[in-house]
Amino acid sequence: MATFKILALPGDGIGPEVTAEGIRALQAIGERFEHVFDIREEPVGGAAIDRYGVAITDETIAAAQASDAVLWGAVGLPKFDNDPNAKVRPEQGLLRIRKELGLWANLRPVKVDPALADASTLKREVIEGVDFVVIRELTGGLYFGQPAERRTTASGRRAAVNTMAYDEDEIARMAHLGFRLARARRGKLTSVDKANVLVVSQLWREVVTEVSKEYPDVQLEHLIVDAASMHLIRRPRDFDVVITENMFGDILTDEASMLTGSLGMLPSASLSDMTEAGTSRGLFEPIHGSAPDIAGKGVANPLAMFLCTAMLLRHSCGLEEEARALEAAVASAVNEGLRTPDIAKPGERALSTREMADAVLGRIGK
Ligand code: IPM
Ligand code: MG
Repeated sequence: MATFKILALPGDGIGPEVTAEGIRALQAIGERFEHVFDIREEPVGGAAIDRYGVAITDETIAAAQASDAVLWGAVGLPKFDNDPNAKVRPEQGLLRIRKELGLWANLRPVKVDPALADASTLKREVIEGVDFVVIRELTGGLYFGQPAERRTTASGRRAAVNTMAYDEDEIARMAHLGFRLARARRGKLTSVDKANVLVVSQLWREVVTEVSKEYPDVQLEHLIVDAASMHLIRRPRDFDVVITENMFGDILTDEASMLTGSLGMLPSASLSDMTEAGTSRGLFEPIHGSAPDIAGKGVANPLAMFLCTAMLLRHSCGLEEEARALEAAVASAVNEGLRTPDIAKPGERALSTREMADAVLGRIGK
């Protein structure tokens, strides 16, 4: 019987509600497939600021480093958003754990479920069949490059600087991951940059092109980020695997999430270097935020968290069969027409978080 150490970090808003369901899913999988998930919980984000004055404590970082995987709810609350110069912000917890765990690869699958295609603001004929994965670089680029600081000019004016920086190794590992994933899917990799303007993007393109020689069976396409943002809504079916810089990925994945119209269903995985066995310590986080407007009402959609939990089983525990069992249970509930309010059509009966979760967990292995 295998034992896995999981750190659950529920965070703020609806984070605790959906994380509680993720934990129940792990327990259900554990019982069914005879694994032990040793789960510890700690506050992060606004919850940690209120309690400890920081968005994530050193102890929580150490606990994450000692775990096989981290299940992350959501962070952020309106009371922290009003002061853009605030010294402590909930989001810092997320940025710190990404960096300290070396989670350089952020996988964001975007798949349109035909049963939910009408929930998108885009036309069904454009989005039907969409199925791609964005791999966003997560520990470098504009988010972490130095210098990053406020300054004063010689004439006493306020100024500020951020830096977009990559070295060739950071780019090459993204390229290898992208090519390997594309090879296991439909064989197409799109690399997104701004090589017509930025020297860092010119290096990005050069390194990706060099790495492509090792993957002659994968079709490589380079897109400039502005054009990519257009093609994402014009011909989204043409994408298979996309790799891109940290901030470009932040922006493009919010856009991509709208193809599905069901933000409450999109998971993400942030991974580090792979072991021989193909697993990695990872952080698994729904794309939806903390949604403070519906927090505490018991109506949040737990499906993104379930799909995160499936990714955790696959990528950090190497439990492919278990991951599929959970994904199949989610698909079965959706196909049978079960809906939380965010994906229900007007007039359709909507389930609460717990009702939806029970329906999915009851379908595991059925
Ligand atoms: C995301 C979020 C975060 C980011 C915020 C909360 C710091 O937008 O995961 O996409 O910018 O990376
Ligand atoms: Mg974002």
